Amino acid sequence: STTRRFHFSVEWKKVTRLCHTKQLLTVNGQYPGPAVVVHEGDTVEIKVTNRIAHNTTIHWHGLRQYRTGWADGPAYVTQCPIRSKQSYTYRFKVEDQRGTLLWHAHHSWQRASVYGAFIIYPRQSYPFSGVHVQSEIPIILGEWWNDDVDKVEKEMMKTGAGAKVSDAYTLNGLPGPLYPCSTKDTFTANVDAGKTYILRIINAALNNELFFAVSNHTLTVVEVDAVYTKPVHTKAIMIAPGQTTTLLLHTDQHTGGEFLIAATPYVTSVFPFNNSTTVGFLRYNDKRKSVNYVNRRRLTTLSTRAVLPDMLDTKFATRFSDSIKSLGSEKYPCKVPTAIDKRVITTISLNLQDCPSNRTCDGYDGKRFLASMNNVSFVRPPISILESYYNKQSKGVFTLDFPEKPPNGFDFTGVDPVSENMNTEFGTKLFEVEFGARLEIVFQGTSFLNIENHPLHVHGHNFFVVGRGFGNFDPEKDPARYNLVDPPERNTIAVPTGGWAAIRINADNPGVWFIHCHLEQHTSWGLAMGFIVKDGPLPSQTLLRPPHDLPRC
Ligand code: C2O
Repeated sequence: STTRRFHFSVEWKKVTRLCHTKQLLTVNGQYPGPAVVVHEGDTVEIKVTNRIAHNTTIHWHGLRQYRTGWADGPAYVTQCPIRSKQSYTYRFKVEDQRGTLLWHAHHSWQRASVYGAFIIYPRQSYPFSGVHVQSEIPIILGEWWNDDVDKVEKEMMKTGAGAKVSDAYTLNGLPGPLYPCSTKDTFTANVDAGKTYILRIINAALNNELFFAVSNHTLTVVEVDAVYTKPVHTKAIMIAPGQTTTLLLHTDQHTGGEFLIAATPYVTSVFPFNNSTTVGFLRYNDKRKSVNYVNRRRLTTLSTRAVLPDMLDTKFATRFSDSIKSLGSEKYPCKVPTAIDKRVITTISLNLQDCPSNRTCDGYDGKRFLASMNNVSFVRPPISILESYYNKQSKGVFTLDFPEKPPNGFDFTGVDPVSENMNTEFGTKLFEVEFGARLEIVFQGTSFLNIENHPLHVHGHNFFVVGRGFGNFDPEKDPARYNLVDPPERNTIAVPTGGWAAIRINADNPGVWFIHCHLEQHTSWGLAMGFIVKDGPLPSQTLLRPPHDLPRC
């Protein structure tokens, strides 16, 4: 097999958007960062050099990292950060995955600008064969802040309130014409009429689930999170941070012209909302009889909105998410566990905590916001959990007592927002499973401030989304209604607002794996935990030894 090598230099670069020039954290001076393009079966080596004064790490989001947990990337979970002037080479094999994923920094809020596409070409031809693909258009959705993002994060942690929202949404780093000074910072894709294109859509936004659409064109979903799906034809998609999808777009508008590419939030996190819209253009090359559907100078947020579902359109978001089904073909069978060895039910909630006595907080009611799972707010340990587990020295780093059921029973609705979850504990709590365990995790939203989906991301494993619903999960009734035939296989699932999602995992990857909300603000507040998969009985089922250049704390 081939080894593909890349060099990432994490460095500052002066970048201007919305008339604001600032030093932006980048990889190799690029924003968005370089695409990593590989083939299924390749070994990948990416040497990351830290050329800034702060620590950093990079995470290969959705890559299985089978037996190579040391290369996963979340700071203090699988590695200590790469320090200033140091390098670390991430080495792993890409096996049994194909499609669109992403990479991003996994230390503080650096992923606001340190992100890029991770594209895996399949070993075998596409299952949507019969379709001749003209070319590919990667579209990475992101957010831009005029301020330094590090400051935004620190300010949020200090005040205990929601973070300052971003100033723009972006398509491949470009805000587009609806924002000030952004006309020239507009993404345009040139296409020929009568062809099929692959759109690789990546949501790299920090804190926003987004709707995405192309005016007058039907999108066909054929893959999510690097797993093929049954084709879904739709006018728009909903995509949560950390999710990726491959779409087919047929350029069937024979009148030619220009069409809108647009993205706007489903619901943003805590107030105030940035409900603006990022716009780009799909431009047909055929000029002969082109009719311009878009009058660029007359473009308004309102006219753009017509292309997209309305903000808060939970019906659309739900219908769309539930329409995604795994392919389940002979060549790509669905490997969902039909029985389980263990079920963990965990709340995912925002909490209020009394303000530390030497401060004033403006979260809500003079208190500060936190977030938790089963009422434990995740605390980042002083050294990496994986390293301390591997060396059998967990003391002062983590404990294995993550509660496997919600501490306060099963009724999560109608709770008083001020008193709910007030006794949140702090800790670095994980649970452990045997190698090969068939694991079910139910993520249960709670009522307090539950105004949005939480995109829960699992490291080191794909999972099957066997059930989703609104209200309280019922351990007696709901499992009987699970989809155990063709559930979608993913690495990030939007748990519906005021509802729950049940996932199943074949826990066959030894190591320590992070689970967290992919809204960065919620991770900072502690909406995270982790699990350990023990080594299997065979030598080929054990975690590999740590690489010699693994960063030290
Ligand atoms: Cu894409 Cu733990 O993150």
